[in-house]
Amino acid sequence: MVLNASRIWSALWRRLNISTHPIIESIQKRRSIRRFDERPVPRDLILSCIEAVRLAPSAENVQPSRFIVIDDPERRDALSKAAFSGIYSHTQWAAKAPVLIAICAELDILANRIGKAIQNMPYYLIDIGIAGEHFVLQAESLGLGTCWIGWFDFRKAKKHLRIPRHIRLCELIAVGYPDGESRKSLRKRKDLEELVRFNQW
Ligand SMILES: Cc1cc2nc3c(=O)[nH]c(=O)nc-3n(C[C@H](O)[C@H](O)[C@H](O)COP(=O)(O)O)c2cc1C
Repeated sequence: MVLNASRIWSALWRRLNISTHPIIESIQKRRSIRRFDERPVPRDLILSCIEAVRLAPSAENVQPSRFIVIDDPERRDALSKAAFSGIYSHTQWAAKAPVLIAICAELDILANRIGKAIQNMPYYLIDIGIAGEHFVLQAESLGLGTCWIGWFDFRKAKKHLRIPRHIRLCELIAVGYPDGESRKSLRKRKDLEELVRFNQW
């Protein structure tokens, strides 16, 4: 399949008029969604979320993020069985998400190795965090619900998804149309004063 980002983008703009959604609305409205209705999520919406990632910044512009979209119900069930069992069974809610996204990082990139060796900074993890949040905010602007998932069996999921050695599986993201009751009020956030200092610690 040839994926032409600008074609996907312009089709979406025509269909959804998404250019009228200011980003702050998505930031304010977003919640982690763990209950979804059964509607499947069209692939062009998922691709537009990945297009939002494609535009994200990354250290040295190495763009290490890679995505596996699991939207086949049988594959999702099999992955869920493997990844959300035993001590990870708390995450079984995600087995009902219409789509699971595996966010991975390309490790075999010089900037990754230099950052880690010289500055003790695994830049690819920062890049992946930015990438995932671009994905999540674009999904929100399209009316989709998402939840980051870190609590799952990485080893089993990696094997199941046939991820090669030089690719690191970093997180999953559940995606779907929110179940009507799942929009909650914002979980408590720290006060601004606790987060910020000016000019020195
Ligand atoms: C890196 C990361 C990993 C997360 N892992 C999980 C998880 O495994 N299970 C889960 O239910 N929520 C997970 N979450 C969602 C957080 O619990 C949620 O973002 C936080 O409680 C704030 O709630 P909100 O997203 O609704 O504002 C994760 C979030 C992030 C950013």
